[in-house]
Amino acid sequence: MSQNTRDGFTSTFGVLVATLGSAVGLGNIWKFPALTGTNGGAGFLLVYLLATLLVGLPVMIAETMIGRAARGDAVTSFDRLAPPNQKGWIAVGWMGFLAAFLILAFYSDVAGWVYAYIFKAMSGSIATTDPKAAEAIFGELVSDPMTSLFWQWVVLGVACCIIMFGVSKGIEAVTRRLMPLLFLLLVVLCVRSLTLSGAEQGLAFLFRPDLSKITPTAILTALGLAFFKLSIGMGTMLTYGSYFRPDQNIPATAMRVMLADLTVSLLAGMAIFPSVFAFGFEPAAGPSLVFMTIPAVFTSMPGGTVFMTIFFILTAIASLGAILSLLEVPVAILSERFHVNRKAASLMATVGIGLLGVPATLSFGVLKDFTIGGLNSFDLFDFLSSNALMPLGGILLCLFVGWVYGPQRTEQQLTNHGALTNRNQVRAIFFLLRYLTPLLIILVLLHGLKVI
Ligand code: PHE
Repeated sequence: MSQNTRDGFTSTFGVLVATLGSAVGLGNIWKFPALTGTNGGAGFLLVYLLATLLVGLPVMIAETMIGRAARGDAVTSFDRLAPPNQKGWIAVGWMGFLAAFLILAFYSDVAGWVYAYIFKAMSGSIATTDPKAAEAIFGELVSDPMTSLFWQWVVLGVACCIIMFGVSKGIEAVTRRLMPLLFLLLVVLCVRSLTLSGAEQGLAFLFRPDLSKITPTAILTALGLAFFKLSIGMGTMLTYGSYFRPDQNIPATAMRVMLADLTVSLLAGMAIFPSVFAFGFEPAAGPSLVFMTIPAVFTSMPGGTVFMTIFFILTAIASLGAILSLLEVPVAILSERFHVNRKAASLMATVGIGLLGVPATLSFGVLKDFTIGGLNSFDLFDFLSSNALMPLGGILLCLFVGWVYGPQRTEQQLTNHGALTNRNQVRAIFFLLRYLTPLLIILVLLHGLKVI
């Protein structure tokens, strides 16, 4: 496909919504509360905020910039921008290809639970505030191989159908309509949760840091979460950046996406933690946390069944925005670099992910004793992507921009060839990318993996 006939986002607003659609997903609603709960609350949130500002934001800017500058898929973009004797940089694109498969293998499993919960919410069968009952309902779903695989394949099937239609028609159309609705419902949930008796304890857990809980593992986990939530370090933002318009203000877009993503996470946290303490749930419950506490909050309010159903529908849609952006990484590589037609590329990627997803999904049932390095397949795929491949991709991206792509071209790209008056801001971003951000990621990685 020649560069000027490439599919792309049709408006500046469309870019913002689709990028936000990638960032906001189960990472905000499911992973953020789960990890904040297991890592001790406010201290973790603090480290997460630092990671988002000092690492997440600069990497997001760098990644979308590389995509827009090269106008190619994750592999081709490095191929186009790296000097002839340094084509090894394309390995970063291939790492993204791998990460997309690993993430989707477990992400589609969780999205499948959300789909299943839509129907459970409708039937009223999850309307309970009793922790034991809620846990039993969740446990029954995730340990049943046929049901959880069925829902995972439904999720992947839906995503595959949409992705076949390409970027502007498929992704943009779906995401732009539904984001505001999810936001609204989260606000309603927060209000109910914050007015439960005992809510203060949850707020203190989320906002009053206990510095002793900030361990090396917690820091690595917070960094991994920042990568995961902002969809960076594995080619998604690069691929989306390649569909950006030439007049898109990249730093401003990244800043808005980061802030909106953070807001959604905080709203989810404020909806969940007060109810954890009010109803006596376990804050460190992990993956099951959202699936137990959210129904409890809805159950305690009028019209709960209807709202709960809408909430799970919206969460399913939010997860779809993220899934589409993940799937776009391999689909773009297959269709642009290897000239596989888009429909076939979509099918190939989906089937591959479906197969890889089987062990992840069965990790909660028949394969629960099958572990590698103490992790079941679900946790292993999560660990490898969030705590290894994405931070590594982040370091390499920073080094590529800071030392290979260089200051002049970065300035041209980020000021839209002088059309924007943000030169000082761009210089600060470049400084972060060249020195501070990669150094921070390296230190956190080595520390978290107990090397230093
Ligand atoms: N950011 C998405 C979420 O929070 C997940 C994601 C990761 C999407 C990586 C794309 C790439 O749910």
